[in-house]
Amino acid sequence: MIYEHHFDSVIAAYKKDGRYRVFNDIIRERGHFPKAIWYGKYAPKNIVNWCSNDYLGMGQNQYVIDAMHTALDQTGAGSGGTRNIGGTSQYHVTLERELASLHQRESALLFSSAYVANEWSIIALARIIPNICFISDNKNHASLIMGVKHSRADKIIFEHNDMEDLEKCLKQAVKAKQTPCILFESVYSMDGDIAPIKDIVDLARQYSAITYIDEVHAVGLYGPTGAGYCEHLNLYSDDIDIINEQSQQVFRNCIDKYSNNVIFLASCSNTQKVIESLQSRMNVLNIKSPTEEQLEGIANKIISQENISLDKEVLTFIVKVCNGSIRILINYLEKFKLLNKHIDFDLANKVCTNISFIELEKYTNYCKQSNLKKSLNIINSLIVKGYSVTDILDSYFTFVKITNTLDEDKKYNIIPLLCKYIAIFHDIHEDEIELSFFTNNLIELLNQ
Ligand SMILES: Cc1ncc(COP(=O)(O)O)c(C=O)c1O
Repeated sequence: MIYEHHFDSVIAAYKKDGRYRVFNDIIRERGHFPKAIWYGKYAPKNIVNWCSNDYLGMGQNQYVIDAMHTALDQTGAGSGGTRNIGGTSQYHVTLERELASLHQRESALLFSSAYVANEWSIIALARIIPNICFISDNKNHASLIMGVKHSRADKIIFEHNDMEDLEKCLKQAVKAKQTPCILFESVYSMDGDIAPIKDIVDLARQYSAITYIDEVHAVGLYGPTGAGYCEHLNLYSDDIDIINEQSQQVFRNCIDKYSNNVIFLASCSNTQKVIESLQSRMNVLNIKSPTEEQLEGIANKIISQENISLDKEVLTFIVKVCNGSIRILINYLEKFKLLNKHIDFDLANKVCTNISFIELEKYTNYCKQSNLKKSLNIINSLIVKGYSVTDILDSYFTFVKITNTLDEDKKYNIIPLLCKYIAIFHDIHEDEIELSFFTNNLIELLNQ
C-alpha cells in the first residue's frame, strides 16, 4: 500500500502513549457463566470474565437461546436489508411495542446498538430543534459525546453529578435563548455511581430543559418490572423525555433475537462462536503455504520493528521448524521478545517447539485404527524428547488444521475437544495421564 507510512506512524504513536488496543480474544462457555476461554499469545487459558456486561447472564439463559433458535429457524440469518426498505420484521415491531410498554411510553425505536442509538438520537434532536444546547455530564459515555460532536450543536459540559454546576450551565443556555437538553446516565459503568436523577428532573422542570437519560447499565436490574433506575425512583414518563434503554447488558440477547442479526447471534451463542472461529481458521487451509523466503521476510520485519537480537542461524532455524505456519513463527519471535536477550542457536533450540507432523500423522492414524497402545507410544516418545503436554496439544492443533488425513467433519469435532484440553492443561497441571484421556476421547470421536 502506497500510504502505509501513515498507518505505521499512527500505530507507533499509539504504542508509545500506551493507547494501542489489544482485544481480548475469548470464547464464553455456555452453562459456565462467567467463565470463558481466553486465547492468549501461546495457548488458550481458562478465565473468569468479571468485566462482562451481561450482568444477569441472560446470554446463557435457555429461554433466550431457544427463542433465538426459533427466530433463526423461522427467518434465517440477517434482516435482508435496511429498516427503511425491507429490513423491518414483525419481530422488530413487536419488540418496539414491548419496550415502549416496559417504559410506559407511546413508542420505542430499535437501533442496532446503544452507541448508534445515542449518536443518532442526539443528531436527530439537533436537526429537529435548531437552537438546542446540549448540557452534558463530563463522565458521559463516548456515544453521547460523539452524538453531540456530530450534531454540531452548542454544548456545555457540567461536572459529574454536580447540581450546582448543572444549574449554572442551564442558566447560561436559557440566557442565550437556547433550548437546553440535559444528557446524563443513570448508572455510570466506570465508577458505578448513580446520578441524582430526581434533582436533575427538578432542575429540568425549572429551566424547561429536555431530559435525555442513558439507562444502559440499569434496565433489567432496577425497578419492580426491571424498567430501570427511573422506575426504581417512581419517576413518571413526563419526568424524563428520552430514555436510551438499549440495555445490551441485560436484554441484549432478546434484542438480538428480534434484530435478527447474525453477528449478534454469534456473540450470544457460544457454540455458534466456536463454530465460526473454527470455520474461519479452516479457511486458512485453502491458502497456499508461505514460502521460506516469505517467512523470512515476515520474520525480518518483526525482528527489526521489535528490536529482537538474534544470530543469523536462528532465523534460518525458526523458518525451518515453524512448519510453514506464520502463527508459529510469530509465536517464536514473541517468545524471543519476552526473553529480552540475545538469542543464540542453543537458546532458540530450547525455546522453539519442533514436533514433527509426521509423528502427529502417525498418531492420528493409530487413533483412527482405535489402536490406543500405539498412539500412546507416540505421545510418550514426544514427552521423552522433552515436549510439554501443552506443546504437544498446541502442535496437534496446527496439525489438525492443515492435515489431509482428517476430513472436514472430523476436524470440526476435534478442534473444540482440543481447545478444551489445551485450556485445562495450560491452566491446571501438565500430566501425561491426561494425554491418555485425550487420546481415548479422540479415538472415540474418530470412530463414531
Ligand atoms: C452508558 C453506555 N451507553 C452506551 C453504550 C454503547 O453500547 P453498545 O455496545 O450497545 O453500542 C455503552 C457501552 O457499554 C455504555 O456503557
